[in-house]
Amino acid sequence: MIVNTELENKGNLFPSKIIDFKKDVDKLYFSTDNDVILELTVVRDSVLRFRYTTVGNFDNDFSYAITKYASIGYNKLEIEEKEDSYEVTTSKLRCEISKESLRVSIYDAVDGVLINQDEGGFHWEESYQYGGNIVKMSKVSNDGESYYGLGDKPNHLNLKGKRYNNWVTDSYAYGKDTDPIYKAIPFYTGLHHGKAYGIFFDNTFMSSFDFAHERRNVTSFWAQGGEMNYYFFYGPKMNDVVESYTDLTGKPHHLPPLWALGFHQCKWSYYPESKVKEITSTFRKLQIPCDAIYLDIDYMDGFRCFTWNKEYFPDPKRMVKELMEDGFKTVAIIDPGIKIDKDYSVFKEALENDYFCKRADGDYMKGKVWPGECYFPDFTNPEVRDWWSGLFKELIEDIGVKGVWNDMNEPAVMEVPNKTFPDDVRHDYDGNPCSHRKAHNIYGMQMARATYQGLKKYSYPKRPFVITRSAYSGTQRYTSTWTGDNVATWEHLWIANIQAQRMAMSGFSFAGSDIGGFAEQPQGELFARWIQLGVFHPFFRVHSSGDHGDQEPWAFDEDVTDIVRKFIEIRYQLLPYLYTAFWNYVDHGTPLLKSLVLFDQEDVQTHYRTDEFIFGEQILACPVLESNAKGRRMYIPRGKWYNFWTDEIVKGGKEMWVDADIDSMPIFIKEGAIIPKYPIQQYVGEKEIKEITLDVYYKKGKEESELFSDANDGFDYTKGRYSLRNFTLTGRSSELIINQYKEGKFVTDYDTFNIQIHGLPFDIVEVQLDNEKIAHKSLKVNGIDSITVHKNFSELHIIGNNSKA
Ligand code: GLC
Repeated sequence: MIVNTELENKGNLFPSKIIDFKKDVDKLYFSTDNDVILELTVVRDSVLRFRYTTVGNFDNDFSYAITKYASIGYNKLEIEEKEDSYEVTTSKLRCEISKESLRVSIYDAVDGVLINQDEGGFHWEESYQYGGNIVKMSKVSNDGESYYGLGDKPNHLNLKGKRYNNWVTDSYAYGKDTDPIYKAIPFYTGLHHGKAYGIFFDNTFMSSFDFAHERRNVTSFWAQGGEMNYYFFYGPKMNDVVESYTDLTGKPHHLPPLWALGFHQCKWSYYPESKVKEITSTFRKLQIPCDAIYLDIDYMDGFRCFTWNKEYFPDPKRMVKELMEDGFKTVAIIDPGIKIDKDYSVFKEALENDYFCKRADGDYMKGKVWPGECYFPDFTNPEVRDWWSGLFKELIEDIGVKGVWNDMNEPAVMEVPNKTFPDDVRHDYDGNPCSHRKAHNIYGMQMARATYQGLKKYSYPKRPFVITRSAYSGTQRYTSTWTGDNVATWEHLWIANIQAQRMAMSGFSFAGSDIGGFAEQPQGELFARWIQLGVFHPFFRVHSSGDHGDQEPWAFDEDVTDIVRKFIEIRYQLLPYLYTAFWNYVDHGTPLLKSLVLFDQEDVQTHYRTDEFIFGEQILACPVLESNAKGRRMYIPRGKWYNFWTDEIVKGGKEMWVDADIDSMPIFIKEGAIIPKYPIQQYVGEKEIKEITLDVYYKKGKEESELFSDANDGFDYTKGRYSLRNFTLTGRSSELIINQYKEGKFVTDYDTFNIQIHGLPFDIVEVQLDNEKIAHKSLKVNGIDSITVHKNFSELHIIGNNSKA
């Protein structure tokens, strides 16, 4: 007879001493007396993977986050057994594993500095309720150590002193302290003693991070199930940490079509067709550039995905074509919930093929979303993803829709307390069956992946464009994202700025906010300030819920319309610059936005800055975040910068006041930069561009710049048909030299560069182009020296008399 019904709480359990060590090529196994094994994989000289089991053997090694294209391989691996520890050394790192406790300390192999150290190290708690363990890791946190990353957390960039959970959640009108919200990106960068390292905890269960919040000198992370499985990246530059993480979890599979970097207008919802046309024609009438128009859920028949409301949209194919003729690409929303309706073909097919998620005891997972009661495809099943991707044939290939917006894919469920599936729902997890506890955080990612595959197939030979709300690490390979249902407040403008920067340092640069706020309605001033920030966000879309009034650029007073137009025009001029930065993101994983700490980590002033950021490599932007402001104080990073509006040169490394009335915002250009610009167009491809402007910012010294061009769509660039121009600017007191080196086979439409030289400290006496003297009459245009040259020059040499110097 059982008399004791109390659950024995064993508390935290720890590994005991190491009793065995084995090496299998790049994997090292350290086994302890109590059946813990640490599998240490040397991924690269600067990337180590730590994986622990408590039962003497490991589960199937499967991850949705890690890309098959990740770089692997190292130059050096030495293992030494010492009296108290094992020492694993690569060319970048030395890792000590204590024989007594299995605790790990990681040092810079070159200068011996301790970078990261286990405090309690790996430990666990048994989970009686679900089986397996709650897996935990604690690390030493040093005074002065800072932490960054974790995706979309809507609070201060520096995570020190905070605790967060990762569980993707539909969070209508979230605030600064709401946690968790839509994304789960369990990756952070630590910075201490000027050296940055990263930790990616690849565990899809609900995970938590505590950055010296509970205990001042401890940073810890844990998950409600699965394995303690984390990757350690060493910089020492933060940019290298972010690039390594992005390499491992995947760079975007390809560039977006250039139009997707233009301006997007969205609302819940534009219907019927006449309303959509009224919006698009107003953009053209008012000459406000715009490339994409969105159809939210009301385009569907009773919110059934892949159907049309024929009353509102009698001939979608004709409409989409007409919009396209006017330069508008149509983007349509698709949600995961499939309406329970025996006469609806998508429902019938999924039911017949057993594609819907089921509860643990075999019933369907039923939940309410926009269409009413729904079932939900199990996107973690590859066969379901394949089927789903096929459903886009008509929408994309036949009707001509150019982009798809995946929403509610946390998955959101209405009228239930936890806003999502219950824990017991079963998932295939690509042949590793599991409960929703494990699949929740990747469900939306797998939906976006299936959508991406459909679009890739049916948009071919053009590039697909997808947007998702929910995401886990690695989702950046397939899609862009937005930050969900924000609110039209000044605080949310601050949040949007933080979130876009944080996403970029979390490997997911193609992100933006609902400009103007989704819930409630902004004043014109807030809307204008938000557009100004949006110009510098990779994804640039206005969106709002219909019930709070209009949010088009002309919905406020005329001054606001003019400011909005002026700023959207700046975006369109900067498209070649942004596209070049995107190329670097796709090619190297370089984040498109750099928070100041990412730009200059050695300057400790940057560690707690939030508002200023670098767009691409050479443009510093800082939004105005208060009403009635005529400017603001901001920190200018070290180096010299040109005020974008006045060409005034400021020396950084200090905080200063910058004028920025409502029709302006603080924007600075790094000295020495060469910024490529397009003429203003109403949409990408409106004009045949025969000339690109190069804004050259004189510097005494050297600076590199780039210009990437290709067909702006399609996949030819992957076969070498692109043009990459590397510019080196060298400035001396009476000389300016621009060298160009060109790669790639693509012949650009533009033939010439109009070179506009800012801040030249001398009068020009002679100009040599590829060693030949050229005429340089009437060089000054509006006070700026301007020269037009053929695009394929190798060296432009400007010689002055030094009279101003
Ligand atoms: C969700 C989305 C929002 C969308 C609405 C209707 O709230 O986050 O962007 O407009 O659903 O589809």
